This record gives sequence, structure tokens and C-alpha cells, in this order.
Amino acid sequence: MSHPIQVDLSRSGCQENSLSNKGCSVADDLKHARQQVCFLDLELMASGEIPDDRKPLDGNFYLLPDKILSEYRTDRHESELGQILKTANRLQSSVEAIVVLGIGGSYMGTRALMDACCEPYYNELSKAERGGRPRLYFAGNHLDNDALQGLLARLRAVTPEGNWGIIVISKSGETLETAVAFRTLLDLLKQQCSHDLPNFVIPITGETGSLNQMATELGCASIFRVPAGVGGRFSLFSAVGLLPAATIGLDVVQLLQGAVDMNETFRTAELSNNPPLDFALAAAQLQWQGDISIRVLSVWEQAFASLGMWYDQLLSESLGKDGQGMTPITMVNTRDLHSRAQQHQAGRNDKWIVNLSTRQSHTDQLKIRESTSDPAGLNDLAGVTLGELSAAARQGTNRALCDVQRPSADIVLERGDEYGLGQFFQMMMLATVVEGKLLGVNPYGQPGVEAYKKHMRNILWPDRS
Ligand code: PA5
Repeated sequence: MSHPIQVDLSRSGCQENSLSNKGCSVADDLKHARQQVCFLDLELMASGEIPDDRKPLDGNFYLLPDKILSEYRTDRHESELGQILKTANRLQSSVEAIVVLGIGGSYMGTRALMDACCEPYYNELSKAERGGRPRLYFAGNHLDNDALQGLLARLRAVTPEGNWGIIVISKSGETLETAVAFRTLLDLLKQQCSHDLPNFVIPITGETGSLNQMATELGCASIFRVPAGVGGRFSLFSAVGLLPAATIGLDVVQLLQGAVDMNETFRTAELSNNPPLDFALAAAQLQWQGDISIRVLSVWEQAFASLGMWYDQLLSESLGKDGQGMTPITMVNTRDLHSRAQQHQAGRNDKWIVNLSTRQSHTDQLKIRESTSDPAGLNDLAGVTLGELSAAARQGTNRALCDVQRPSADIVLERGDEYGLGQFFQMMMLATVVEGKLLGVNPYGQPGVEAYKKHMRNILWPDRS
């Protein structure tokens, strides 16, 4: 494995030597949880006889990266990834912009990947600067009139000839936000369309549902599937994440390889050297000990803000059940040191700060230069890089939290590139599932989300209820 993720949980304040909970051996519970993820859940799913108290069981996310990558290496053309890359190449050579429609797990991973791996102003670059790849916009994740109008105006401006496309993603095929945006954008595409519509609308959906039906009616040239037994927020390593990522030229093979390597570590590494298991254990112990109820993913790259949004969703929808689960918050540093840090340092002691940083930046490090005018005294720091300043802020924050016995941890990626992110995404998905198993919470499904939908349906369609 090249460049494993480094995880330091030593300041997390959990009692590492007392691996017991309510008289049981937590080490045994952890090993059993790993056994479930790696074998037992998959066997149960394959048997088709899942007991009611284990439903839903969406354990197929675990082997998805291994499966997609090995099928691709066996058959580069006909495999799922081969087809995804073919479609991505077709889109790259024919459209100026792509709109990804989807909400929750159907888009957040892609947004996180794009923000972490592409240049910060990717959509503002010229076509040549983008390497001939399309701009990528996101919609279908809100019901905000002005935001959708803004996108329509933007599409008319950047592609007056109508050479843009839609990747519409919905596992259920029934999600209102996505369906409304799809209908609106399809109208614009039809009006402007100077090309063959079915080739420029790519649905990614389940085998049934209204999106699947629309895709058939439109005669879409390519339809990709969200794999069975893979929940939305666990679906990044399927076409859901791979197609949009490949369309903007991200190295999806490296992304999958990072996830495959994380799986190998998870399967084989001992406790204390196994990032997903160790992280899940620390998280569970903090909850058993009582006071800590908020988990702050404290990111040290501006480009990781959306990664925090992805993790917020993963943790809330997976473990916010049965009155349990820590509340996730993302903090973007050093920006939020000037807002949230006050509360983290001296407010209620109910937070676990998990830093996420990288060793290497994508671009050359800027250095502080000497200046003849130096009222701020920066000349003393001449030659110091921005990365070194950020590391000092991170270490200073950790020390300050330690001083007042507040728990924190570090996750360090070698780089915020496709390989590093592949590791991180899979690590957090595995850790979340294991944490759920330790807490006795089913990490799959999101039954709580149905409550508002039911009321909303009654408001919109009173005659149907
Ligand atoms: O994680 C999940 O399953 C959810 O967040 C879904 O991704 C989200 O609700 C969108 O659902 P769908 O893909 O069916 O439109």
C-alpha cells in the first residue's frame, strides 16, 4: 500500500487499557463486528433470508471497490467501469457543462471529491485550462427557486448552443427535489437542444421507480444502476460517484485502489494499527463514557469543506437512531478558529475534535517574504510556508484542547488526491458501520427521514392520503 492514512487517537481520552463495556470484551465485539462486515453480512444478504430485525442490510458497499476494480482489470471494455469511462469520454468530448442532479448520498461524495481534487476555481477555467473537460454543476439537492434560476441562467450563458448534459442520480427514482430539478432542466435542454437528447441525459438509478421509467421513455443511450444492497450514502464507489468524477478527469482507478487498500487493512491489521476499527472503538468508548455527544470533523484544507458535509450525512443518517449517535459538525480551519474554537475550548465539554489534514499540498508552498515595511512583524517568519503556519495552528489547537482535558484526534492523509480520498471515504464508511454495530444501532437505512416526507406529502397531495 502506498502512503497509508495516519490516525492518532492518543488524545481522545478513551480508556485504552480497559477494553471492556458492561462486562464484555470490546476487543471481541470489535472482531465480531469486523467478521460481520467482511463475511457474515454478505452471506446473509446472499442467502436472501435477512431477519426482520437486521433489515435493511446494505452491506454490499464493503466489497464494491474490489469488485469494480477487479472486473475492470479483467475486461477494460465491457466491465461496469469500462462502460463508465466510455460514457465519461463521450461526454468530455461533446459537452461544455454537466449538471449532476441528486440529493444526500446521491451527490455529496461527488461534490466532496470534486472540491478536494480539482482546482478551487475549476468551473471558471477556460476549456483548455480544464483539459477540455466539462464544467460540473450540482442541482436537485434543494427546493430553492433562486438557486435553480441561477443555474438555468448560468447554463444559458456558458452553453448558448445547448451543448450540456445531465447526470441524474436517484436510487429510489422518486426523490422530489431531484425530480423537480430534472423536469425543469430537461425542459431547458429540450428547448436548446441542438444535439441528440438521449445521449446527453445519463440516469443512474434502481431497476424500478419513476426515474427508471422516464429514462426508458426518453430512450437514454446509457443507464447506470445503483447496485442492490448498497445504500445511497455508501454508493460513492459505484457509477453514482465514478461517472461524474471520471467526466471531470479524476483518476477513478486510484480512487478505487485507495478504498481497496483500506479494505485490506481493515480485514487483516491488528487492533491499534487498523484505522477503521480503532476509530470506531474510540468513538464508541467516548459515547459509553457519557459526556461527549458532538463530533467535530475539523478540516485543515478549504477544499475539504464538502468532505465534512459528506461525513455529516454519513454519521447522522447512519447512527442518529434509537436516541443515539453523536451529532456531527464540520469545522473549516483556520477560518473557524475565529468562530467555533471559543466554544470548543471553553464551552460545554461535549465535543470530540477530529482533525483531518494532509502532509502534502497539491501546489508549491507559498512562503512569507521579507518586506521593507513590516508593522506586523512578519519578517521574523520570512521563509516560513503556509503549510508550516497551518501545522502550527493545528498543533497549537491540539495543545490548547489538551490543556483543558478535551478530547481530540488526528487523521492525516499523505495528499488530498484520489488515492488518499479513496482510503478516507472507505475508512469512514467502515468505521461508521462498525461503530453502529458496537452501539447496537443499524447503520443502514434512514427511517427517521420518512417522517417529514409523510407530512409534506399530506400537505402537497391531501387527496391522495
Ligand atoms: O443515504 C441515503 O440513502 C440517502 O441520503 C439518499 O441518498 C437520499 O435520500 C437520496 O435518495 P435517492 O437516491 O433515492 O434519490
